[in-house]
Amino acid sequence: MPLNIRTYHELTERDRSDLPAQITAQRRRVADRLATVRRVVAVLSGKGGVGKSFVTAGLARGLARSGQASGVLDADFNGPTIPALLSLPVARCTLHEDGIAPAVSAEGVRCFSMALLLEDGRPLAFRGPETEGHVWRETLEAATLREFLADVAWGTLDELLVDLPPGVQRFQELAELLPAPPAVLAVTIPTPESRDAVRRALRAASDLKATPLGVVENMVGGPFAGSAADEIAAEFGIPVLARVPFHPSDDVWESVVSKVGSSL
Ligand SMILES: Nc1ncnc2c1ncn2[C@@H]1O[C@H](COP(=O)(O)OP(=O)(O)OP(=O)(O)O)[C@@H](O)[C@H]1O
Ligand SMILES: [Mg+2]
Repeated sequence: MPLNIRTYHELTERDRSDLPAQITAQRRRVADRLATVRRVVAVLSGKGGVGKSFVTAGLARGLARSGQASGVLDADFNGPTIPALLSLPVARCTLHEDGIAPAVSAEGVRCFSMALLLEDGRPLAFRGPETEGHVWRETLEAATLREFLADVAWGTLDELLVDLPPGVQRFQELAELLPAPPAVLAVTIPTPESRDAVRRALRAASDLKATPLGVVENMVGGPFAGSAADEIAAEFGIPVLARVPFHPSDDVWESVVSKVGSSL
């Protein structure tokens, strides 16, 4: 159900959109939809390219292999990578009366992503006033998140992992939409630059009362020097859940699952 939002061209008219009521109704739909999801875990970094999506997909596969019902919502609309990481074909999703059915990987991970809606290789483009595209894009992306959360019929899930794009904005939009603040899994590489970005993101998350589960240090043992995970863990009083080398074996995800299993 797309929101009926006025554009700048329509500001001289009386507002008949009743936006607050629309948003309240959609938040209710999100809460109803997620009533069968035990836990929402936001995978957050603040920094780009550190392996959020890689870790999200690995963890979701590890959870599925350990017998838990796991799903991934790919909340990166411009660079959706989760279907590829789960070996799912693009541009495949099915619409049911009850909503959109998530795609299911060979290991049983349920997934929804913009990549399932876009033609292979095509960028995301919103229809709207062309001259104001940059103004509307953020609003439309927030509305897209709301629609994904309200429309995807996950069924019963133990964990819904949400793979976020870099920055904290999508996390803030997510936290506003959910009935309760999500748990947070932070991903960093060892460097001080990554540590600083993750620290900012975790502070933004704690401002919104989200519970940090722990930090995963990715790309360990390669060219990146530093001890970001230990420093973040000490500062926020959270565990280092894993140190993930380049091209890890599947055991590494099993170890994360066993460490977070009790808190997930
Ligand atoms: N431990 C690893 N071993 C090998 N390749 C990795 C590892 N972690 C990440 N990669 C690769 O590095 C690239 C960046 O990882 P990924 O896309 O998961 O980062 P991201 O934090 O999600 O990026 P973005 O900020 O763009 O969303 C990808 O090609 C991914 O497959
Ligand atoms: Mg990513």
